[in-house]
Amino acid sequence: MSEEREQLIQLLSKAYWMEIETVMSYLANSVNPDGVRAQEIKESLEQDIQEELGHAKLFAERIKELYGVVEGSEGFTAEQSYLQPPEHQTDIVHVIRGVIAAETGAIEHYSRIIEETDDVDPVTQDMVIDILHDEQGHLRLFEGFLREYEAEGLA
Ligand SMILES: [Fe+2]
Ligand SMILES: [Fe+2]
Repeated sequence: MSEEREQLIQLLSKAYWMEIETVMSYLANSVNPDGVRAQEIKESLEQDIQEELGHAKLFAERIKELYGVVEGSEGFTAEQSYLQPPEHQTDIVHVIRGVIAAETGAIEHYSRIIEETDDVDPVTQDMVIDILHDEQGHLRLFEGFLREYEAEGLA
């Protein structure tokens, strides 16, 4: 296996784990929050779980197509400290900020993969551009939620 391909597989593995951790975090945060205001956020995260799981599958399949091996659960290390449950389950702003951090992290990493695959692997690049588009949509939506809380002096 070429060094270049091996490095790409490492980047794709990191992306895969980011998606898996996002599924875990969004699942917890689609259930935990309390209060009337939490409803919209919970429903939005519930929808995103399926989308992020779909992304994880795409990354896994691409790793396989590039002759890599998708790691087992022992390869996982948690990194989303900002998406742990808040002290109070009515603290929706904590969740919104956590989602913004997760989506921003994904956007940064996927932008890097798009750069690294430029002129090297157009198929991976195409796939990651589509995923990046989804993450930009998620980020924009949650930035909008945060604006609303800020406008009301709640964030
Ligand atoms: Fe994703
Ligand atoms: Fe996302």
